Amino acid sequence: MITFNEEKKLFKLDTPASSYIMGVYEADLLLCLYYGKRLPDDNVWALARRNISASFSPVVPEIRDHWYSTDAAPMEYPVNGRGDFRLSALSVKNKDGNTVTDLRYVSYEITPGKPDMSPLPHLYCENDADCDTLAITMRDAYTGVEAVLYYTVFNTCDVIAKHVVIKNGGADAVILDRALSAGVDLPAMDYDLITLWGRHVKERQFERRPLAHGIQGVHSKRGVSSHAQNPFAALISTGGGEDVGDAYGFNLVYSGNFEIAAEVDHNASTRVVMGIDPTDFEWNLAPGESFTTPEAVIVYSDEGLGKMSRTFHKAYSEYLIRGKYKKAKRPLLINSWEAAYFDFDTDKLISFAQRAKETGIEMLVMDDGWFGKRNDDTTSLGDWYINTDKLDMARLVDTVHAMGLKFGIWYEPEMISPVSDLYRAHPDWAVHVPGRENSPGRQQYVLDVSREDVRDNIFGQMCSVLKNYKIDYLKWDFNRNVSEAGSALLPPERAHEFFHRFILGTYDLMDRFTKEFPDILFENCSGGGGRFDPGMLYFSPQIWTSDNTDPIERLMIQFGTSLCYPASTMGAHVSACGRTGYRTKGDVALWGTYGYELDPNKLSAEEKQIVKEQVAEYHKYYRLIREGELYRLIAPWDNAFRCAWSFVSQDKSEALVTVVTMRQTQEELFRLKLKGLDPGKYYRNEADGEVYSGALLMYAGLELTDLCGDDGTSFKVYLKEV
Ligand code: DGJ
Repeated sequence: MITFNEEKKLFKLDTPASSYIMGVYEADLLLCLYYGKRLPDDNVWALARRNISASFSPVVPEIRDHWYSTDAAPMEYPVNGRGDFRLSALSVKNKDGNTVTDLRYVSYEITPGKPDMSPLPHLYCENDADCDTLAITMRDAYTGVEAVLYYTVFNTCDVIAKHVVIKNGGADAVILDRALSAGVDLPAMDYDLITLWGRHVKERQFERRPLAHGIQGVHSKRGVSSHAQNPFAALISTGGGEDVGDAYGFNLVYSGNFEIAAEVDHNASTRVVMGIDPTDFEWNLAPGESFTTPEAVIVYSDEGLGKMSRTFHKAYSEYLIRGKYKKAKRPLLINSWEAAYFDFDTDKLISFAQRAKETGIEMLVMDDGWFGKRNDDTTSLGDWYINTDKLDMARLVDTVHAMGLKFGIWYEPEMISPVSDLYRAHPDWAVHVPGRENSPGRQQYVLDVSREDVRDNIFGQMCSVLKNYKIDYLKWDFNRNVSEAGSALLPPERAHEFFHRFILGTYDLMDRFTKEFPDILFENCSGGGGRFDPGMLYFSPQIWTSDNTDPIERLMIQFGTSLCYPASTMGAHVSACGRTGYRTKGDVALWGTYGYELDPNKLSAEEKQIVKEQVAEYHKYYRLIREGELYRLIAPWDNAFRCAWSFVSQDKSEALVTVVTMRQTQEELFRLKLKGLDPGKYYRNEADGEVYSGALLMYAGLELTDLCGDDGTSFKVYLKEV
């Protein structure tokens, strides 16, 4: 719900449990006055009183009040060069060549529902009753540049989505050299910053540090959101944790270069800004043109990180994931990559399908190596025609379907091998800059999908395969970062627009495919989880979480990923590698979109039996895991020996608890306190028939000492209301 107090000039944005308050102050400056636990409507005007001067910092010219400086005020959408020396969200280079920018409040509008931000991915809202949108127009009197600040407030979960449309309403061209999506100013610094760092095979590792004066944060200038840092950050009040404390979550719906930065100033206030990374960014705006920033998703939780995560999960499951597989059951797949790498032919893949079918697996995915002349990673990206020396595609697809299995395929559409027909014909279609040799990565170059002709070519090639054969699933990969970032079609004055144009090109391609093939299940991938972000989730409901399939390593990766992203989005497979037995592999993979990544011909009879049991469990717990709520009971960043998590159904009638022993301890007693149950309900432990009250399970804990085994073992407890 959004209200505007005309007299006090206060905007109040309420979600079920949070309030966000802004005020129009003297000289039409827009201030961020409060963000936190929901406040009653009366009395909030008192927030506008704020007596902080900033010695040495200039004051607002029209106010000339020693006590009032934008350098100390909580600016809602901070600008560059007008006396606020902290991080700015907007910096516009004007006709005079300077970047002094000013924005003053002009007007507002409140409408039900949420505006469409296409071609950018964004949260959507099919039912206008679920959310309201506030649009505040700000204007720079000198340049005529307008910024419309959009806030969509959800009535069903504690989420606010923000983005900005910047319009050149002046007579002269300007250049945006910083155009971020959102800012939040908080009047304190007693928070810890949590971010998700990583690398290939070690994605989204939890990292927590106390805020310090100055700037801290995360960014990517790799052309992708990246393995190195996820476009996510959280602030948690000092001493807060999984279940207690104020937690603020920040996530950018964008798959390219990003920045999320927190600056603690001289008054111990904290400013968070987020948006496109300004390092390699500029955007030319001619008179009348406008630029839309990516969307920022902001969550407040008064019950620590756990509730923050569950809020993100609900928002993304309801308002981000689209298409048939938003609700439809995802097929249980087997992928050929770790089973065969490039070494396969028709018969080998058919044998995978036959063995897999015997265990109940539902789909065969043919990974890299089926096209052009590709027998290793040195060639053929861009040549999207069947390698007929290797494959009888019609026989393969028909045989697999005749067995009752679905069939999936791998692509890497935004790449080009220097050894390919496509590169020989169009060397200028590779991303490059004049005068420099391209730096290869995994022996490949990046394809310039900022160009429409390039996108048309790739779309056409891929369509002819996807339309000729019945393809049920498409894995969309991206296996290197972007260097020498330039396009043959961009003039020098637009060179810094490349990165954003590139990602817009990717989104356009994905949009075309998802519209043309609405029944195909898309799984995103970037060498594992190098583009695990909400931008990608808008087009593909699941993402391959990591190439690391070792279940113990996966714990940190999946726990970290779960900070922001729901279980249904995390591709998780059982593979032959890894330090544990198949039961632990299955228990850990069951958290995500489940599958296998191994040669089923090599499974022993005992292993095959385990797989059959796992397939049955996958079906049994599917709804509970997909639709239930996640509770992190013991996180691997808090405990080096053991971790545990549970899914609890929305109606609190059932729960599945999983415990993994990473390293055996000498502890004599392991009593695990559960979360999220109804204290007044009674639950039966399916394994032994014992009945416990929800209160006992949560406040005293479930005695599990006897179930804990050796290093690398796991167990599950299923509880159902009696
Ligand atoms: C990287 C992916 O993460 C793998 O699963 C596999 O698809 C390879 N690329 C294929 O090249």
